[in-house]
Amino acid sequence: MLAYLNGEYLDRARAAVSVEDRGFLFGDGVYEVTRAHDGRLFEAERHLRRLERGLAALQIARPRELESGSLIEISERLLRDDGLTSGDATVYLQITRGVAPRTHHFPPAGTSPTVYLSASSLAVPDDTRARGAAVILTTDLRWERCDLKTINLLPNIVGKQQAVAAGAFEAVFVRGDVVTEGASTNVFAVLDGELRTHPATHRILPGITRDVVLEIARESERELGVPVREVSLTSVELRRASEVFLTSTTNDVMPVTCIDGAVVGNGTPGPIARRLHAALVARMTGTAAAAR
Ligand code: PDD
Repeated sequence: MLAYLNGEYLDRARAAVSVEDRGFLFGDGVYEVTRAHDGRLFEAERHLRRLERGLAALQIARPRELESGSLIEISERLLRDDGLTSGDATVYLQITRGVAPRTHHFPPAGTSPTVYLSASSLAVPDDTRARGAAVILTTDLRWERCDLKTINLLPNIVGKQQAVAAGAFEAVFVRGDVVTEGASTNVFAVLDGELRTHPATHRILPGITRDVVLEIARESERELGVPVREVSLTSVELRRASEVFLTSTTNDVMPVTCIDGAVVGNGTPGPIARRLHAALVARMTGTAAAAR
């Protein structure tokens, strides 16, 4: 398997960054995970827009790969050369503020950002989807800029490990009494005949899958029979929802059938989640199914 690192394609096992990389020392960087199906990237432009917004917000220099528009070409070459041109895969992209002697403040102007990409095959979790996933609720310990996709993921990692230790699929964060998002997913619920999800504020990552699912849900509001509202839920509301589901690049639409050991709705994946999943997959694979 290959890695692209700062202009070179390398054997991934041999690719290495300096111990003075600010990603290593401080978690000073941003990342993206983009889905590919049959070697084609899904919603690459939206991922690039989110990446550019993160770089600008954190004042990380734009790498030359971004200026030359070559990040998509690099991603496609990795998919090709790693033999990932059929089925599902992901491309991981990370940009850090670069290599410099350790100081908390920014390194000297002109320090080149570190650019790393690699591709991996993706085992889509269809078995879990068929049964529905279990989640736990846990306190959202994160900072005030959850809208930035930074490589600082300690609260997410600790939350996910709590979920794994409890035999659950995902940890859903609750701040005060507001459900924000999952450790690596966005959260939707059908409550009192409405489809709801936390608005895209600084409290959540504006997920690309969330965006696409919201678009599909709005386009097919009449067929689905549920109006869409970007209004957060409390943990009590989440527990009494008729349907709950998660969205992410690696999970698509994942129905939730159990929260902290209690059954959601009738305990099986709900119809809204199933239709939205079918419509999302249709978009990704270029087939014609709609959210009906
Ligand atoms: N995680 N919220 C958080 C905190 C995330 O880390 C992610 C994605 C999402 C969903 O975003 P998207 O639909 O753009 O994948 C929401 C990625 C997949 C990861 O860290 O592996």
